Amino acid sequence: MLKLNPHVTAIEEETAFTVLDRANALKAQGAPVINLGIGQPDFTPPRHILEAAEKAVRDGPHGYTSPQGLAPLRDAVAQYVARRFKVPVTAEEVVIVPGGKVTFYFACQLFGGLGTEILYPDPGFPPYRDAARSSGARPVAYPIREEKDFGFDAAEVLSLITPATRLIIVNSPANPTGGVVARKEMQKLAEGLLKHKQVAILSDEIYSHLIFKGTEFTSFLGFPELRDRTVILDGWSKTFAMTGWRLGFGIWPKALIEHVKKLVTVDHSCTSVATQMAGLAAITGPMDEIEHFRQSFEHRRGIVVAGLNAIKGVKCRMPGGAFYAFPNVTGTGRDSGVLARELLEQAHVAVLPGESFGRNGKGYLRLSYAASEADIREALARMAAFLG
Ligand SMILES: Cc1ncc(COP(=O)(O)O)c(C=O)c1O
Repeated sequence: MLKLNPHVTAIEEETAFTVLDRANALKAQGAPVINLGIGQPDFTPPRHILEAAEKAVRDGPHGYTSPQGLAPLRDAVAQYVARRFKVPVTAEEVVIVPGGKVTFYFACQLFGGLGTEILYPDPGFPPYRDAARSSGARPVAYPIREEKDFGFDAAEVLSLITPATRLIIVNSPANPTGGVVARKEMQKLAEGLLKHKQVAILSDEIYSHLIFKGTEFTSFLGFPELRDRTVILDGWSKTFAMTGWRLGFGIWPKALIEHVKKLVTVDHSCTSVATQMAGLAAITGPMDEIEHFRQSFEHRRGIVVAGLNAIKGVKCRMPGGAFYAFPNVTGTGRDSGVLARELLEQAHVAVLPGESFGRNGKGYLRLSYAASEADIREALARMAAFLG
């Protein structure tokens, strides 16, 4: 009989993709499904990015690149990040990977392993837990709290650190809540981490461009005293509407780069070269369309939050970033898992149950408002009608 690796078989399915499959199956049968389940911008990448990709496919380069990524792209990423956060970043610290996810997967591989613990947010992006688990580490959830505007309490997070803790994953702006951790709280966490020298930090900043009025983004690059154990995750998926292109970058401590390059080599050799050329055009080109995407999300956020709060039994905080709303539906008297399923099957509105993001997500739904305004309004009307 086949004996499988229990660290791999313990991986759970990512509900966003299961719901996407079901929504598409219903659509294929003719149901007028509106999908607020999957988290991806509904825009096409700006024209100059598409043209750069076309040119790269036609004219090359066509071969493998360095496992770390094309040198001009790493240079451009270093400059782009240094300019945004006013911190020194060099191309040596940048590793280009096929999608944002790869950076946290590699961080879990590098810092995890049997006998270790990895701290991750709950509710939070589900693959964090599974990437930790598949390394052999024990994933340890720390709570994200609605009353903290979907941020964390730094003292509570720090209290979960043990001698076995090797990595803490932080995500702001966050999936699934849209919460943005206040600078004060992030600072408290950073200060507390100073004395836990065995703990590395993975800061997932993939939504850092999607910050709305009145909210301030704090990059973990702003804590230089932790830089030698901080990994920054970012990429092109959410900022440039390029989820399907699979392109991300990590900024790693210099001393770890050799290990990360070996992980890249074992896993995928290098990221698709044409995609890297498109990524170069994206971050060196005009950003006006990107700002337009951000403003559209901010506008839709207002519609979603107002619409949800108008439904009896539903309470929704104003998220500070990303493109998610995370309404509390306990007041409807319905189970969030059952409600999400019924909304898809009966009202044909795909949303995700909060518990698919961790135990603390029970009683909530996640709506991605990366959809057209007309679809959002129709989905809200159907939800209101369904909930009476
Ligand atoms: C918080 C967070 N990090 C990382 C990712 C993965 O991004 P990518 O599609 O570039 O792998 C996502 C995608 O949904 C996300 O929500």
